[in-house]
Amino acid sequence: MKDVSANADAKRLAGEAAAELVRSGMVVGLGTGSTVAWTIRRLGARIEAEGLDFLGVPTSFQAESLAIECGISLTTLNQHSVLDLAIDGADQVDADLFAIKGGGAAHTREKVVACSARRFVIVADESKYAKKLTWPVPVEVLPFAYRPAERWLRALGGEPVLRLGRMKDGPVITDNGNFVLDVNFGTIEEPAALASKMNAVAGVVGHGIFESVDELYLAGMGGGIKRIKRD
Ligand code: 5RP
Repeated sequence: MKDVSANADAKRLAGEAAAELVRSGMVVGLGTGSTVAWTIRRLGARIEAEGLDFLGVPTSFQAESLAIECGISLTTLNQHSVLDLAIDGADQVDADLFAIKGGGAAHTREKVVACSARRFVIVADESKYAKKLTWPVPVEVLPFAYRPAERWLRALGGEPVLRLGRMKDGPVITDNGNFVLDVNFGTIEEPAALASKMNAVAGVVGHGIFESVDELYLAGMGGGIKRIKRD
């Protein structure tokens, strides 16, 4: 489906620019969402034009289908447990390069892939950049545990809402067969502390606070890209 949103061009700019980081021989994590989809398409074009030869590790069914369509050879983390690079989108990124991900409910696999990579690059349009994180944090939970998990996330100061399907009655089911709670914490003053508290909640399979972003490719609505690196 064609992306007609106001930031569609900026998403494309950021996504395509990051595709230039890939070199032949690399193993590369391929993220999920409409921004990194431009990276994947551009990588397909580079395979065609330059014979670029690399292996991709997709983070979701969506990323895998698009990568196959674009002619990218795929591998798994079980075959390549260390990746040279991972590229992915985000829902929000702050000034210290903490990110919130999981708008597409793929954050658990995305985090495993990001943490397996020597370098993790986020691609985003400038609407995703904020001084502090405020986006509700997607939390993947075991269906068996979602009620107690809601209670424990409330005790951490969050307001959880079970994510519901659009063209399906009932909850969204992730690629791992779980539910997603979108948990509003208001302004998140200490993302690292919140992340480690959520790691300790029983029944939580993965949450959307990412602490390992090395670099951000941020595209402006009027064109132009800023590359912001972790100090
Ligand atoms: C999926 C994600 C996406 O990367 C995030 O939602 C950004 O998506 P988009 O590039 O479509 O705005 O975390 O789980």
